[in-house]
Amino acid sequence: MTIKACLFDLDGVLVDTARYHYLAWRNLADSLGFSFTESDNERLKGVSRMASLEILLEIGKMNPSENEKITFAAQKNALYLEYIEKMNPDDILPGVREFLTELKKAGILIGLGSVSKNAQSILSKTDITGFFDAIVDGNIISQAKPDPEVFLTGAKMLNTNPEQCVVFEDALAGVEAAHRAGMKCVGIGSPDILSEADMVIPGFENFKVKDIVL
Ligand code: G6P
Ligand code: MG
Repeated sequence: MTIKACLFDLDGVLVDTARYHYLAWRNLADSLGFSFTESDNERLKGVSRMASLEILLEIGKMNPSENEKITFAAQKNALYLEYIEKMNPDDILPGVREFLTELKKAGILIGLGSVSKNAQSILSKTDITGFFDAIVDGNIISQAKPDPEVFLTGAKMLNTNPEQCVVFEDALAGVEAAHRAGMKCVGIGSPDILSEADMVIPGFENFKVKDIVL
């Protein structure tokens, strides 16, 4: 395929914030009196804040009021914001900056496709905003992954057809969203978890455009 654009998820792909999301949700679960494991957390990756809370509450078998849910989500986000507060350019995952630089030189467009409402702040703290030709985040879309909206919006903003876009994702919901958008998907992480992806790599260290084999 001819690659015209690469669309990147943020959390767990460009930066290690997937860990912070997990720690913040686990802290909320602890405070509500139930445990929340890393394997439970796979279900939350790529899922919006409120939908994540619903899954967490289902795991804890809790049924709070709508007002309490808003309080719980705010409590989780406050702790998450504490974690990301100190992020800086060193927090970019290994090889990411080099790969984005290679894409730029090759004239391949770069888009962000994240459902996080905190995405812009993380891009700016880590100083990579300038690489992006389009930024789609949780503030401009209405459907979280696995709905394809986030990636279809990215393709539209970049003026490319879905078949010319490659998505980079660490979440099961994100791989599904990419496929539903008609795009190929490179999984970032473990092939056991991301078996649906078109290829899986552990991360971007030493990864080059020529290594994308789809
Ligand atoms: C990403 C993460 C999810 C997170 C969601 C919303 O998709 O993978 O774990 O819940 O964004 O993030 P936010 O920063 O808006 O709470
Ligand atoms: Mg992710």
